[in-house]
Amino acid sequence: MQADIDRILIPSGQIAARVKQLAHDITQTYADSEQGLMIVCVLSGSIVFVADLIRHLPIKTKIGSIAVSSYKGKTTRSLGPALIGRLEADVAGRNVLLVDDIIDTGQTLRLAQNELAAQGPASLRTCVLLRKPHRAPRDVRVDFVGFDVEDVFVVGYGLDYDGDYRNLPDVAVLKPHVYD
Ligand code: XMP
Repeated sequence: MQADIDRILIPSGQIAARVKQLAHDITQTYADSEQGLMIVCVLSGSIVFVADLIRHLPIKTKIGSIAVSSYKGKTTRSLGPALIGRLEADVAGRNVLLVDDIIDTGQTLRLAQNELAAQGPASLRTCVLLRKPHRAPRDVRVDFVGFDVEDVFVVGYGLDYDGDYRNLPDVAVLKPHVYD
């Protein structure tokens, strides 16, 4: 796996520190909420991020999921997002925090936010680890952002290429030969 890495964009230590800060900000935001929090993670890219984030949240937290597919097989070009299966979370009347790995064109989050909003949550906020700021549209609101990144295809810390590299602890860029 290491032989396929061209460069590390965000090392694991930097991710860990930022995830702690994000958890602190999220905790402050929901400090007055007696019912706690419902986290809805976008599968599968956000699983590593969510696993780390929730262990720094000292508030009552339930976890649900929504599955969205944008990429199939060996491609770095989104085919446009589609919901897979149903929303695995009862979000009506809950304080919902939608969590994804990255906002690129924003299509995935727009779809997930609309799906959740239709279920009547008490509140709906969104958290992403990474944002490509030059591409993310202004109409898709994101409340918590870990890092802004340049417009390159990234892998690691949950993000994949053709299903691989999710277990890489850093966020990295692959060597061009991997895409051949
Ligand atoms: P959109 O364009 O809908 O993209 O905002 C969000 C989803 O697309 C995937 N994505 C990436 N996956 N490296 C990845 O491994 C990337 O650079 C990348 N950009 C977008 C990701 O699944 C995200 O949920």
